[in-house]
Amino acid sequence: MENGPSSWNELQERVTQLTQECQREIEQAANGAALQEVKVRWLGRKGVVTQLLRGLGDLPATERPRAGQVLNQLRQQLEASFAQRESSIIAQEKAERLERERLDLTLPGRRAPLGHLHPLTQALGEIKAFFIGMGYQVVEGPEVETDYYNFQALNVPKDHPARDMQATFYLAPDLVLRTQTSPVQVRTMERQKPPIRIIAPGKVYRNDADITHSPMFHQVEGLVVDEGIRFSDLKGTLIAFAKALFGQDRRVRFRPSYFPFTEPSAEMDISCTVCGGKGCRVCKGEGWLEILGSGMVHPQVLEMAGYDPERLTGWAFGMGVERVAMLRYGIEDIRLLFENDRRFLAEF
Ligand code: FA5
Ligand code: MG
Repeated sequence: MENGPSSWNELQERVTQLTQECQREIEQAANGAALQEVKVRWLGRKGVVTQLLRGLGDLPATERPRAGQVLNQLRQQLEASFAQRESSIIAQEKAERLERERLDLTLPGRRAPLGHLHPLTQALGEIKAFFIGMGYQVVEGPEVETDYYNFQALNVPKDHPARDMQATFYLAPDLVLRTQTSPVQVRTMERQKPPIRIIAPGKVYRNDADITHSPMFHQVEGLVVDEGIRFSDLKGTLIAFAKALFGQDRRVRFRPSYFPFTEPSAEMDISCTVCGGKGCRVCKGEGWLEILGSGMVHPQVLEMAGYDPERLTGWAFGMGVERVAMLRYGIEDIRLLFENDRRFLAEF
């Protein structure tokens, strides 16, 4: 044992001193890594205790067994101390982790935000529900339409001044973005035999834009053709519709109007819900907002579709869905319906 104790007492003293020293280091090791480092320094292959055990060979043969026993005891004692500290560090680290990662199971959960139907879709749904309830069929037609169906078959020949009523987007000389859902009237009459009772919802396009006009908007066309259909059917149905959507007390009026494909023609206004009829930006100070055009199907249109206008009569309407939504929900600018501002949409 180099520089080793030459007497028994000295060895005992040295061991006691080393034990205390090592115990202190063990106590001071703050975490698993630090403790491991201490352990290597004391019990590792080049550690203090290992060196002492190696030095046994230098002792006189008579002292070796006792000295060996003492050093082995030292090693066992230190090993036990390391093991104890190790498990208390593990326990402490686990307790700290649990504290840090604590979950409060009593907190309320986070609800995923639920969407809902767009106000336009809601308005269209209410319009459809009313007419489906009255026995109408729902049909559709193309948005890219021929000049023939959008105009000519509706009694608007080429170069007729009535074309100026609707600012039209032309795709080709004979192809337009439909300006109205009325071409679906013609397509339906060509396909079906009377009695006809249909609505045709869809997108239409016009070069138009202000707070009540959008270049793309939605119409719902309505068409009823049978024997004995009269103007009173038109009025009764549309008044019942207005009361169902806007309430029994909402005021409704018919204004004489002109469409090339109906005779007589009328537009229906609803007293403005935005201002309560007093006059505002939306109703342009009138107290009324137009929601649809209507009339008795023109004999010329029936004839072009192959029907006998002597036997069959009909009435039709074309309603603006955005206008219905604006009046139904008190929306002040048609453009709000297309901006998809979630603060606005969340109000409906
Ligand atoms: C027509 O489009 C006719 N086809 C309606 C019709 C059908 C008459 C069947 C007779 C028989 P008008 O251009 O007025 O008519 O449009 C109908 C409705 O669409 C208007 O009352 C209005 O509510 C709505 N509307 C018209 N232009 C716009 C626009 N640019 N933006 C939003 N809504 C509009
Ligand atoms: Mg109009």
